[in-house]
Amino acid sequence: MSNTDNWSAKKYDQNANFVPVLGSIILDMLAAQPNETILDLGCGDGILTKKLEDQCKRVVGIDASANMIKKAQELGCKDARVADGHDIAGWFAKENVEQEIGGKFDAVFTNAALHWMTEPKKVIAGVKQVLKTGGRFVGEFGGYMNVADVHGALITALNRRGKDGKSFSPWFFPSDQYYKTLLEEQSFKVETISLNPRPTPLPTDVAGWIDTFGFSFLAALDTDQERRDMVHEIVEHLRPTHQREDGVWTVMYVRCRFIAYKQ
Ligand SMILES: C[S@@+](CC[C@H](N)C(=O)[O-])C[C@H]1O[C@@H](n2cnc3c(N)ncnc32)[C@H](O)[C@@H]1O
Repeated sequence: MSNTDNWSAKKYDQNANFVPVLGSIILDMLAAQPNETILDLGCGDGILTKKLEDQCKRVVGIDASANMIKKAQELGCKDARVADGHDIAGWFAKENVEQEIGGKFDAVFTNAALHWMTEPKKVIAGVKQVLKTGGRFVGEFGGYMNVADVHGALITALNRRGKDGKSFSPWFFPSDQYYKTLLEEQSFKVETISLNPRPTPLPTDVAGWIDTFGFSFLAALDTDQERRDMVHEIVEHLRPTHQREDGVWTVMYVRCRFIAYKQ
């Protein structure tokens, strides 16, 4: 886990509040039960974690960003902790979570976070370790072709500036078939997995989106002026196709949604 925390809970709330709002589909797919103990992986600022708390016995939220965890705690999440999704089993052992919660988790839930974890095999292995046998792993995250226009524009803009744009991409956007294979390789039984295109209106223009989520690309440049110029270039490149008649910007998200069981 990197020591730099690029996540701003304030920007997330201002520029990306649609993420937890649109998470209700995957919460419904999880169908948490009142007697269950659930891990919320990459819980962010805790909006969905809090909703989950009302539906089951206990929720533990983990996230790599201390800024986001602080916000989740301020929101009133009862148990939100800083931990890296690439080492869930290490965290579980180190903090004696099994003893604390009286066993392993009934379910691992995750919304909009798995595509930030670029070593998916490690993540799946960790999930498997902390789930009860028969427990479920239910998630939604960015799949193949997610935000492809913005992603491509960021890469191209850096390429144009003499950088290897793709190497700055922090995302893993797999096809449903590929992710299914990864789950099955670790003996999960995949009940359902699919890619779901979702045009997503933004509360800001695409510059707000890049400011919130595109920090890895912006960090490739040396000065604020260079960053401003690149964002301006991308906004004008996307404006003709991504700005609606009423001025609202829309980005095409593609969500991978799945339910898998530990056998
Ligand atoms: C788009 S937010 C989603 C937050 C929340 N699940 C929601 O639905 O609003 C993605 C979250 O993934 C977290 N994240 C990224 N890499 C992570 C990692 N390696 N381990 C744990 N969390 C990570 C980020 O810190 C961020 O809070």
